[in-house]
Amino acid sequence: MKTQIVQVGQQHMESEWIQKAGAIIQMGGLVAFPTETVYGLGGDALNPASAREIYAAKDRPSDNPLIVHIYRMEDLSPIVKEVSESVRKLAEAFWPGPLTLILQKSELVPYETTGGLDTVAVRMPSHKVAQAFIKAAGGYVAAPSANRSGRPSPTSAKYVIEDLMGRVDMILDGGDVEIGLESTIVDMTTEEPTILRPGFVTREMLEKVLQSVEEDQTMMSADSKQAPKAPGMKYRHYAPKGDLTIVDGEEGPVVEYINEQIVRLQKEGCKTGVIATDATVSLYRGDVCKSVGNREDELSIARELYRILRDFDEKEVGVIYSESFDTSGLGQAIMNRLLKAAGHKIIHLNNI
Ligand code: TXA
Ligand code: MG
Repeated sequence: MKTQIVQVGQQHMESEWIQKAGAIIQMGGLVAFPTETVYGLGGDALNPASAREIYAAKDRPSDNPLIVHIYRMEDLSPIVKEVSESVRKLAEAFWPGPLTLILQKSELVPYETTGGLDTVAVRMPSHKVAQAFIKAAGGYVAAPSANRSGRPSPTSAKYVIEDLMGRVDMILDGGDVEIGLESTIVDMTTEEPTILRPGFVTREMLEKVLQSVEEDQTMMSADSKQAPKAPGMKYRHYAPKGDLTIVDGEEGPVVEYINEQIVRLQKEGCKTGVIATDATVSLYRGDVCKSVGNREDELSIARELYRILRDFDEKEVGVIYSESFDTSGLGQAIMNRLLKAAGHKIIHLNNI
């Protein structure tokens, strides 16, 4: 398949390329597009054949349901059984934006899109290119993140090209994304609204709108006996090729511990890497040391995390150590992704 790459700035909303991208979707094709979180791999959400094409392009198991992206509120009710008061409140507070809601699906949504579930995930992105594209596509775009299965979600068109060239009809290049981690997912079909995947919209933010919000117990823990409620969370998703370990503790001891490991590994001929922060990156002796951002600015870390994981793959680093992050606010989403990438390998120096 020939993949057309098109650059679209936020100011070119009515461009003929967006119309063309929309037409591709309506004819059953695939288009990768930017959103504020990560790039999506879009197909027609109401066409069962498109869902199958998406799974094939990603090499993704087809029991992993897709998020349906809409661009305006009036398009919600046709695809769900009911729009409750709580759903309306959350939509008012956070849409368009990085929040996905799980709702009971209507008959309009094929089971191919929902991975056989009676529920559907819905999100209204705030990215202007995404909105114009969804509109041109007819209103309902099913899109997982635009990475090949098992790789970090793409935060720039460059990574979409790496993963999906020749597998999709078009890639809309809107530059770097704003947030860098996938949307917060909240299940609205349970007794209490339940966070299934942490993201930019935090529990504290949700609790300002709804009285009480629960968290899926499997979200931050390594306990694999319990199945996560978002089927996609069970796969070892954000895994770098190198062996990643997180080291938690005070700055001084963490630097010392990681450097000790690095010296030992280098003697064995192993290529080592460190995920550090702006304040510490110069202190490490790894072969490849990268700052993921500034601890005072969590968004800078969210934005860089996947890029750095991809960099370590490219440089074929064998063993990677990462500093640990505070799990309040956006830090919870950062640690959730980092822990998954590490297969939950974390060393707590305070406990040694
Ligand atoms: O920010 C995002 O959400 C990005 C952009 C492109 O919008 N999309 C994204 O899609 O991250 P994906 O497919 O990589 O992740 C969707 C997650 C998966 O873990 C999936 O299992 C879960 O949402 N999910 C989808 N439908 C669900 C449902 N009906 N019930 C429970 N979980 C669901
Ligand atoms: Mg994904």
